[in-house]
Amino acid sequence: MKKTKEQVFEKIPQHIAIIMDGNGRWAKARLLPRMAGHRAGAENLRRIVTACTDFGVKYLTIFAFSTENWKRPADEVNGLMDIFVDFLDKEIPKLHAQGVQIRHIGSRKELNSNLKMKLQNGIEITRGNDRLVLTLAINYGGRDEIVHAVQEIVKQGVPADAIDELTIKEHLYTVDLPDPDLVIRTSGELRTSNFLLWQSAYSEWLFTETYWPDFNKESLKKAILDYGTRSRRFGGRTKKEEEEAYNG
Ligand code: IPE
Ligand code: IPE
Ligand code: MG
Repeated sequence: MKKTKEQVFEKIPQHIAIIMDGNGRWAKARLLPRMAGHRAGAENLRRIVTACTDFGVKYLTIFAFSTENWKRPADEVNGLMDIFVDFLDKEIPKLHAQGVQIRHIGSRKELNSNLKMKLQNGIEITRGNDRLVLTLAINYGGRDEIVHAVQEIVKQGVPADAIDELTIKEHLYTVDLPDPDLVIRTSGELRTSNFLLWQSAYSEWLFTETYWPDFNKESLKKAILDYGTRSRRFGGRTKKEEEEAYNG
């Protein structure tokens, strides 16, 4: 079979997580309202999902709304919720046809009933797909997730001595997901803003100045190539270092 251009990567991150930031500044730079930036951001997510399937990424987790984003003016919060509903309405059939499985992480109880229903619907329809697992972090916070996990463990009466890292991991919203190999944050901000605190302990991080609506397939390709140059040690030594056995 003819090799496609996409197959050039030596090392592909199995799981990419993205903090999709910079929609507001993207709109401001174009003298557009903030909502236009959020809409452009949602359209871009569509393109990046396809790019991930083309490149062979198996898990994509995107930060769409944090537990702290409720602090924004009601207009913006409501506008964002409408965009999520529209996105699901429009995209679920296409995502399903593409073999994408939709998941959600975060607390669902604060979301409006329409959005909860659309999310549940998308999750159910796409449950059997395995080309790409797309996890939407909506009303997600890493600290909230850890608090929730501890509450669940206590409720189950697990004795203190029996709690280890696996116990915590199994009570996080991400229970079925591997840890992200690569976390990307767009728009030049250099912080986690409460995203995947536990899971990203040994992730590779990539920060780019590009605003989310402009982060395209080429940007993703560059990020994957950059990832390929990283040496992941997880606190140990690389195979190469072991082979060299240089202990001087
Ligand atoms: C990211 O864009 C989207 C959300 C946080 C919902 P922002 O709205 O944070 O855009 P900037 O950071 O103000 O440019
Ligand atoms: C992080 O972006 C949350 C999302 C992208 C959904 P923010 O724009 O909310 O982060 P801060 O406030 O600049 O840290
Ligand atoms: Mg922001």
